[in-house]
Amino acid sequence: MRVLLTGGTGMVGRNIKEHPNTANYCVLTPSRKELDLTNREQIRSYLKAKSPEYIIHAAGLVGGIHANIANPSRFLIENLEIGCNLISEAAMIGVKNIINLGSSCMYPRNAPNPLKEEYLLNGLLEPTNEGYAIAKIAAQRLCDYLKVEDNSRNYITLMPCNLFGKYDNYKPERSHLIASIIVKLHNAKINNKKSVEIWGDGTVRREFMNVKDFADAVWIVLPLIKQLPNVINIGTGKDYSILDYYKKASEIIGFKGTFTFNLCKPVGMKQKLLDVKKINDLGWFPKSSLESGIEETYSHYLDLTR
Ligand SMILES: NC(=O)c1ccc[n+]([C@@H]2O[C@H](COP(=O)([O-])OP(=O)(O)OC[C@H]3O[C@@H](n4cnc5c(N)ncnc54)[C@H](OP(=O)(O)O)[C@@H]3O)[C@@H](O)[C@H]2O)c1
Repeated sequence: MRVLLTGGTGMVGRNIKEHPNTANYCVLTPSRKELDLTNREQIRSYLKAKSPEYIIHAAGLVGGIHANIANPSRFLIENLEIGCNLISEAAMIGVKNIINLGSSCMYPRNAPNPLKEEYLLNGLLEPTNEGYAIAKIAAQRLCDYLKVEDNSRNYITLMPCNLFGKYDNYKPERSHLIASIIVKLHNAKINNKKSVEIWGDGTVRREFMNVKDFADAVWIVLPLIKQLPNVINIGTGKDYSILDYYKKASEIIGFKGTFTFNLCKPVGMKQKLLDVKKINDLGWFPKSSLESGIEETYSHYLDLTR
């Protein structure tokens, strides 16, 4: 079975690629040079040449709140092109199975928590990541439409909660919360800083999962794809406040100082906890604890800084 994995150089893609189940498949992971997803012709000739039975679509322009606010048009345009080009070309070539990756950012900002799959498109989006979310929603809906037009297509979207872990991005303009907490606390520790600034008042809640567990969910879902609903949330089912994450990471990193709160900075949605009943009903649960995930990620970060 040939599986095309897009985004194979990214955090999610690399973890999907390192999962032991890859041994059961022939996994193709073209670089962007080999397969630029903004280029339709390149996609068409790649798919014709390789004829994958499955596509796991884990490529996209991804960034934290800062990057999304600074460049919403780029997040909209690139993700729209990447998603729509790949999925529509795959349908035309006759690829029957696609696992498209969505994001919890696609849920309406005022939807009740935990967020159920059916809340998609039921309200206005969070303005700080609206461009990104609109593009991801378009790709999800395209999967639905193509499935309605031809019911032999098994096109589903997995909606991961926030992810962190091995191969996380630590560049300030690209990093997500846990990676940025690790960098801030580590630098504060080695520079003997007495305090670290938190954006907002620390009460906003987020659900974070080790990306290794998400990779596991992808490989569990793949052989079941024919019988699955169009959208499935993947998360831990548990969230923590931003301050909790800082405190847990401080214990692991060894930062002994205090925190200050910058109330002028944007914080995004108040809560984004996924309802994970559908994936749990399939018998899948995440394996790693938050603490062990932060420990592993910190150790990976230290390796990179050596
Ligand atoms: N990280 C999270 O917390 C999270 C949470 C929910 C959903 N997701 C979803 O998971 C997917 C992957 O996220 P990630 O965290 O792994 O991001 P990442 O580390 O930034 O990786 C993005 C990947 O996409 C590739 N890519 C970007 N533009 C491309 C293009 N035009 N053509 C071909 N490849 C392109 C990148 O290739 P290069 O190496 O060449 O740049 C890279 O391999 C995204 O769809 C994202 O929405 C992520």
